Amino acid sequence: MSAADTRVPHIRIPPPGPISRELIETDERYISPSYTRSYPLAVKRGEGLTLEDMDGNLYLDFTAGIAVCATGHCHPRVVKAIQQQAEKLLHICGADFYYPPLRDLARKLAEIAPGNSPKRVLFTNSGAEAIEGAIKLARYHTRRQHIIAFYGAFHGRTMGALSLTASKITQRRRFEPLLPEVTHVGYGNCYRCPYNLSYPSCDLECVSHLEKKLFKTTVPPEEVAAIIVEPIQGEGGYIVPPPEYHRELKALAERHGILFVADEIQSGIGRTGKMFAIEHWGVEPDIVCTAKGLASGLPLGALIAKAEVMDWDQGAHASTFGGNPVACVAALETIALVEEGLMQNAAEVGAYLIGRLRDLQARHRLIGDVRGLGLMIGVDLVKDHRTREGATVERDAVLQNCFARGLVLLGCGESSIRLCPALVVTREQCDTAVEILDQALATVKV
Ligand SMILES: Cc1ncc(COP(=O)(O)O)c(C=O)c1O
Repeated sequence: MSAADTRVPHIRIPPPGPISRELIETDERYISPSYTRSYPLAVKRGEGLTLEDMDGNLYLDFTAGIAVCATGHCHPRVVKAIQQQAEKLLHICGADFYYPPLRDLARKLAEIAPGNSPKRVLFTNSGAEAIEGAIKLARYHTRRQHIIAFYGAFHGRTMGALSLTASKITQRRRFEPLLPEVTHVGYGNCYRCPYNLSYPSCDLECVSHLEKKLFKTTVPPEEVAAIIVEPIQGEGGYIVPPPEYHRELKALAERHGILFVADEIQSGIGRTGKMFAIEHWGVEPDIVCTAKGLASGLPLGALIAKAEVMDWDQGAHASTFGGNPVACVAALETIALVEEGLMQNAAEVGAYLIGRLRDLQARHRLIGDVRGLGLMIGVDLVKDHRTREGATVERDAVLQNCFARGLVLLGCGESSIRLCPALVVTREQCDTAVEILDQALATVKV
């Protein structure tokens, strides 16, 4: 198996083959039924964008473990850094002791975070845990309680993060009561405007609504600690807001002493062609949450805050495993690779892929919208171009069909296909993916 293998994808046995089936059967006996597997892919190995299943089928992976394997599966430099660190120190706990990878990565993240203000970093094990930290820090620093989040948002599944998550009702059902004092508002989604308006004549109602309505009726602005927002909404459908959105939201937050928290867990670390997606709009958040792509697959998250904001006392917050030395060296190597060229590749190949998908849109009525930045791309399938009613069943059928042909994709939002390949993806691999998607779309009737 080779990362540049021209035989990829190559389906020898219709999946799941016998060895995959055996694994899946036992897995499903023991694993929590809450997991959301879309199709029966049982993975043995990964390299670059190639996945090999248990029966020797080769797939082209356009999910990167949900935007996690930023440098591709098992990038040799990341693997080597992990191996070398594993021989020296596996764990000591950054909350209690000092070690170089923790210091080095904190310094690096403080340097690359958006804006010029000095920053400080707290490490976590996951995205949700970074969001928990952001909620706590925002409350601690501002001594306020209320949080504003957005419909369609996904911030994680732990109780605090879940209180902000508003993308699927199954994620919240029977878990209430959640955090009190959380209010959701409509996101800047011009394809399906929450206020039924059109850009630009809408005058950015999605931002001004807060001052015109919310702050005058239900939420006193001086009691709001933070606005927590995804620069590009991820699970909600890979939605890129209108150009002025984040700048206006940040200005509004500043007017009321509210912290602006960017959830860059999916969009960060070069994926959109900038180190952090919020840089596309020239905004410096007060707090940035990152995870997923940060360590190319090892579990690691971080809360990067303006130093003046991260003012909590000793003992206020920390984690036993967060900032594990092996994960930290994987992150340092990942960031080096991203800076050396992968971020540039994400911008260039991402623009190419969006262009190819727009060509596809011209030929398939099912495609209502193609949107994205860099390698965070959504293809929204609709039943009707005028009503923009999402074609959920058809989207799921396309994903299944792509899988059978050896292209690994996932959905997002009600009716979108997400394309978030590793940042090492080539134009040729994009051509192959578009070709398969073309064939799959042709099999689905609206
Ligand atoms: C934007 C965003 N925030 C938070 C999370 C939660 O991260 P984790 O699953 O690591 O807890 C995710 C995961 O998909 C995400 O996409």
